[in-house]
Amino acid sequence: MSIHSASILAEIFRSGKRLFLSFLRPQFPYASIQVMAIQKTETKKIKRNPKRIALVTGGGDCPGLNAVIRAVVKGALNRGWEVYGIERGFEGILHKNRIRKMDNGDVRGIAHLGGTILGTTNRGNPFQFIVEKNGKQTIVDISKKIAAKFRQLEFDALVTIGGDGTLKIAQQLAELGIPIIGVPKTIDNDLAATEVSFGFNTAVTTATDAIDKLHATAESHERVMVVELMGHYSGWIALYAGIAGGADVILIPEIPFSIESVARKIQNRWRRQRRFAIIVAAEGARPVGGKHFKKLRETGHERLGGVAEFVAREIHHLTGRETRSFVLGHLQRGGQPTTSDRLLSTRFGAAAVRAIEEGAKNVMVALRSSKIITVPLEEAIKETKFVPLDSDILLSARDLGISFGDK
Ligand code: F6P
Repeated sequence: MSIHSASILAEIFRSGKRLFLSFLRPQFPYASIQVMAIQKTETKKIKRNPKRIALVTGGGDCPGLNAVIRAVVKGALNRGWEVYGIERGFEGILHKNRIRKMDNGDVRGIAHLGGTILGTTNRGNPFQFIVEKNGKQTIVDISKKIAAKFRQLEFDALVTIGGDGTLKIAQQLAELGIPIIGVPKTIDNDLAATEVSFGFNTAVTTATDAIDKLHATAESHERVMVVELMGHYSGWIALYAGIAGGADVILIPEIPFSIESVARKIQNRWRRQRRFAIIVAAEGARPVGGKHFKKLRETGHERLGGVAEFVAREIHHLTGRETRSFVLGHLQRGGQPTTSDRLLSTRFGAAAVRAIEEGAKNVMVALRSSKIITVPLEEAIKETKFVPLDSDILLSARDLGISFGDK
């Protein structure tokens, strides 16, 4: 017997008992009113419709994922629903041992943990799934299998926690009939549909901390330190951490830089007896007329990287100053989520469950004007959010004398 039918039977039994007791009471004439009240409650309970929801995390990991998972699981269980965690991306649904029925014990004490208890992958696109056999890779489309399995397991919704890549895949799965509720995850903060995505605040905090630490060693050795930060094709992390950490130069993809301009800024500092400098470069930054710096992934795909090394080499060449470069890399994705990210993740997760309860599908939860709302998934994946050139934060940085390598 399903939990649903069991709860209906229990409620009918309870109603019968209450009705019998009401006839025994001295205020018998009011019994009919009580019967009506009982019938009303009964109808309400039957309509409650417990749901079975699935939950998946996709793409790169990000601080706050576990807090979202916790909020979704708790919100659903508190409504009497069932939640199933799909492990290591969408494809997990095809494997019995990667579908985990979740209860409160699974999510106890995880809000402050980095990573994702469900595991994730950025090689899990079901429409272009990579299969490896005898060291050879072939690409297959397993999307229809996934949609069929979803129906067979009688899930009501798939809560998909992911960045732009994962949410684009989720939109394609929605077109195959899987009701999706998206939750925006990315340290890059590059989803236009939400003012902030969770993970961004933690990444900025980690990056700022790293820049703070660079100051002492840069000053002691009279060096130019160049630090490369993540952010994909947007400059949000570099801009925020660069300002907060007191960088002298910030290079972002939205403003192509001239290496000569950066060199001038460095020489000016030495002239003013400020005999060290910190340059923050977003991984997507590039010189005027130049290309993005890229490296090969193990999978053969390209990823951004290499700008800090280039800037350090060129600055040494142009100024004669001693330079060092380093890439902060995946440290920005790890560690405990900040309080702000835990809160945002929790709000997003709880809102995703409320959206399902309200009958929404193919939407993404988003933060707008301090409120959590839902936006159509189709809209949500359309635009990348870049740093606007007239943003006040950019203007403030310029007012403080920070160089963006363009003047
Ligand atoms: O989107 C998050 C992000 O960390 C980007 O900032 C970065 O370009 C990319 O993922 C790195 O991906 P990978 O995990 O494949 O190194």
